[in-house]
Amino acid sequence: MPASLNVVILAAGLGKRMRSALPKVLHPLAGRPVVSYVIDAARSLSPRAIAVVVGNGADAVREAIGAPDITFVVQDPPRGTGDAARVALEVLPAEGATLVIIGDIPLVNPASLGELVMQALDGKLAVLTAKVPDPTGLGRVIRDAAGRVRAIVEERDANEMQRAMNEINTGVMAAPTALLKRWVAALTPENAQGEYYITDVVATAVKDGVAVVAEVAADERDVRGINDRAQLLAVERILQERRANDLMRQGVALADPARIDIRGPLRCGRDVRIDVGCVLEGEVSLGDDVTIGPYCTLRNVTIGQGTLIEPYSYLVDATIGANCRVGPYARLRPGATLEDDVHVGNFVEVKASTLGRGAKANHLAYIGDTTVGSGVNYGAGSITANYDGASKHRTVIEDGASIGSNCVLVAPVTIGKGATIGAGSVISQNAPEGALTVARPRQVTVEGWQRPSKKT
Ligand code: UD1
Ligand code: CA
Repeated sequence: MPASLNVVILAAGLGKRMRSALPKVLHPLAGRPVVSYVIDAARSLSPRAIAVVVGNGADAVREAIGAPDITFVVQDPPRGTGDAARVALEVLPAEGATLVIIGDIPLVNPASLGELVMQALDGKLAVLTAKVPDPTGLGRVIRDAAGRVRAIVEERDANEMQRAMNEINTGVMAAPTALLKRWVAALTPENAQGEYYITDVVATAVKDGVAVVAEVAADERDVRGINDRAQLLAVERILQERRANDLMRQGVALADPARIDIRGPLRCGRDVRIDVGCVLEGEVSLGDDVTIGPYCTLRNVTIGQGTLIEPYSYLVDATIGANCRVGPYARLRPGATLEDDVHVGNFVEVKASTLGRGAKANHLAYIGDTTVGSGVNYGAGSITANYDGASKHRTVIEDGASIGSNCVLVAPVTIGKGATIGAGSVISQNAPEGALTVARPRQVTVEGWQRPSKKT
């Protein structure tokens, strides 16, 4: 793309119809703000400048999407899309072409944007339109008998005949910068909403004898706008369906493409299986032959080849080796690292700990701030007491140790290599290697004791 392109992204509107404290363009779509998709599409054109017009919730928008290649322009108050474009054009270089994109059409296709820009560099006003089954609420594209675009009319200002048109304005247009600048400066708010409409520049261009071309989107689903929560969800489902289809094309076996949510980059090896109801967030990497059971959440997780994640497991910021077995109902918290062949069973929580090769913690346990050696067996109901009310302390369990059921390991403490800890022990001092350590009261039988009985 030539170096003379500006992109303006409009994101200053109220987004009233969302009925939310969060600015509309920051609502998450597949885990990322709506407007960030538009910015990515703009970046793919390598423009010389990207200006994002902000107003409502300007600080939050800046905070969420700020980057060195983005110029923020404040529009206050928001007086319409035309006014927003005018404010941005004031700070942008006057030559070349400018592409204006509304901030609430996240699935907009970069290739269509490129087409529009080519037309604008050729001196034309180019608008991206779409033929839709239900044009309710959208600006209608008005063509003459010869099919030439004459104007865009907002629904509220349209007459019966214009409303019947099903070709709509997507909110994307490109024009030579100098012309666009002049046109938006001359807009007037004479319409039902009393706003400055960028769409009015189409009629102005026609009047000025500038060629107007319409690029009709190949797939109207690419240009669905988001104004309320139902539309946000509709776009989310389109995006998720596309991701699921991509995964299946890559060879991933999904139990149901309609019942998976992918909210970040997901890498899958061969013959990965993902059952229904899984949520994959952040960066997730699944090795060959990994199986994820139903209703698991994985956020920033790497899983090695052949590992099985059983149902309802909740794994966050964790690294899991090959041939492990995790869950059902396992919880891996940040910093959990399982080496190969590790088993972590039901209701086991692991935080900031490494479990060495072949270690097993199969039932009802807590392992926090711990280094667990290879081949360790960690009994049911055992916990590390890693927090003394002020600081966290580490536990070390050396290779081959066996921790009986229902033990408390009071950190800092080290369990030596091959040591055995008797069930029910409270271990507050280091346990030597190779030996049995038991730390619980001896069992006593009280002679002559009698259970109280009810007086009759
Ligand atoms: C707009 C178009 C309409 C088109 C539709 C497509 C106009 C007048 N209408 O209508 O033709 O069919 O998009 O989805 O352009 N914004 C500002 N400042 C403002 C007003 C809006 O930055 O003063 C931003 C909003 O943050 C939003 C975008 O512009 O991201 C579009 O605004 P919105 O109010 O949603 O326009 P629509 O009524 O949907
Ligand atoms: Ca809109």
